[in-house]
Amino acid sequence: WEAFRKLAHRMVDDTLEHLATLRAQPAWQPMPAGVRTSLEEEPLPMEGQGAEAAYQSFLENVRPYPNGNLHPRFFGWVQGNGTPLGMMADMLGAAMNPHMAGFNQAPALVEERVVGWLAELMGFPSTSSGLMMLGGTMANILGLAVARNARAGFDVRQQGLYGGQSRLTLYTSTETHGWCMKGAELLGLGRESVRKVPVGRDFRIDVAALREALKADRRAGLTPFCVVGNAGTVNTGATDDLQALAALCREEGLWLHVDGAFGAFARLSEKL
Ligand SMILES: Cc1ncc(COP(=O)(O)O)c(C=O)c1O
Repeated sequence: WEAFRKLAHRMVDDTLEHLATLRAQPAWQPMPAGVRTSLEEEPLPMEGQGAEAAYQSFLENVRPYPNGNLHPRFFGWVQGNGTPLGMMADMLGAAMNPHMAGFNQAPALVEERVVGWLAELMGFPSTSSGLMMLGGTMANILGLAVARNARAGFDVRQQGLYGGQSRLTLYTSTETHGWCMKGAELLGLGRESVRKVPVGRDFRIDVAALREALKADRRAGLTPFCVVGNAGTVNTGATDDLQALAALCREEGLWLHVDGAFGAFARLSEKL
């Protein structure tokens, strides 16, 4: 333990120093050819090299060459940069390595309480439930699975999509993040089941065009089950007219899923 404790303290100190001095470092630098080759081609090690050597290799070959998203002057895409306290919280969580499947234990209750707080912050009913997921893509895909199971009109969990008579279709704007297509693939719906509805000049979904698409699909014998709205699109931050989408979904008996990965927290601002 003593040797490990020393190494672990060094890792924490080095990392905090690295984070504290990020601004003085380049946001990004090209990987030297030798580093790239060693990362791409390092043979399977048949002997353990030890934690010290592995850490040294991380310091030399990995940490200096990120895509840059931690840096205060990195403006590419909408990638998060994390926080030092978040890093330490991850460590504390990893040190417990909790198994979250119920039982009489604290970590599962923490997840439940945090989900409850988030629901309260968003103004959802107290009966709301949820799960902490790894990111926006996984959270949205899980939400789409819930929509599919709730509105398919047959027991998808039992029968799979074989239980249906016609194609289940979902509707979203052309501005929706790529998770939606991935979700349609993963959930067995297929990309052809996603109707990409045009947007207006404000990049918000054209609700009249959505209405028309629904009508046309119903006439063609398809089964619309879900509309995916955006609370902040990845490209421009546009928020669809969620009230209009909610009203339309109520009228049509459809599930409304809202992707709030980028913009949901705007609800917490008094200015918006
Ligand atoms: C609106 C929106 N939805 C979904 C995602 C996907 O989130 P993640 O990259 O965490 O999987 C993003 C990511 O930028 C996003 O902006």
